Amino acid sequence: MTIIALINQKGGCGKSTTAVHFTYWLATQKKKKVLLVDADAQQSSSEWLEGMELQIPYKVVQTPDDLLELLPELALESDLLVVDGPASLAEATRAILFRADLAIVPVQPTGVDLRSASEAVRLIKQAQSVRSGPPTAAVFLSRAVKGTKLKDEALALLNKTKEVTILKTVIHQKQAIADTSGQPATVWDLPSRPAKESAREYERLFKEIFAML
Ligand SMILES: Nc1ncnc2c1ncn2[C@@H]1O[C@H](COP(=O)(O)OP(=O)(O)OP(=O)(O)O)[C@@H](O)[C@H]1O
Ligand SMILES: [Mg+2]
Repeated sequence: MTIIALINQKGGCGKSTTAVHFTYWLATQKKKKVLLVDADAQQSSSEWLEGMELQIPYKVVQTPDDLLELLPELALESDLLVVDGPASLAEATRAILFRADLAIVPVQPTGVDLRSASEAVRLIKQAQSVRSGPPTAAVFLSRAVKGTKLKDEALALLNKTKEVTILKTVIHQKQAIADTSGQPATVWDLPSRPAKESAREYERLFKEIFAML
């Protein structure tokens, strides 16, 4: 019944990677009936789920009209709907925000990415105003490199904002995560130590998100 959306019009920030890992975590760890809605023209998350050993249901819904109309219907059939938002299309993102209960914004620690995150927060605030409340929203730092000034500065800047919740967990840039989509698999399926570290980061992040529901 609950709709959680990964949104940010900036490409490459980790929406699809997070959506697939979150959907997998909800299905396996929380035993939820979950559906991934792929709203991205590249259809990377649905192809990813299609190729995985554990079959997790997904549906491709892409136009703003279809998203607006179909999301409530699809939500009735599952405990949780995870929406993988598109890059660049403001209208599709807006449609998703008119239906989501919770909007999560992954943001990379660069100036351009931080500006695009504030654009996403603007769309979220518009939806909250129209809907007199929802969606609840949170931002997390994605693909950060440990020990860099860029990461520290981005965190300091994000933590100054009062407009939206900043999640405590940071997802770091790791080759193990980049490798998962090609397999296709998740970090929980890979045996390496870096994959285990990333799995722990995702678990912390998803527990934080789950606690917001
Ligand atoms: N934490 C990470 N460490 C390393 N690589 C990552 C990480 N997160 C994502 N990636 C890689 O970065 C690229 C972009 O990630 P992803 O496709 O999830 O972003 P996206 O926001 O969905 O992009 P788009 O807006 O184009 O759909 C992919 O190649 C992915 O494997
Ligand atoms: Mg994507």
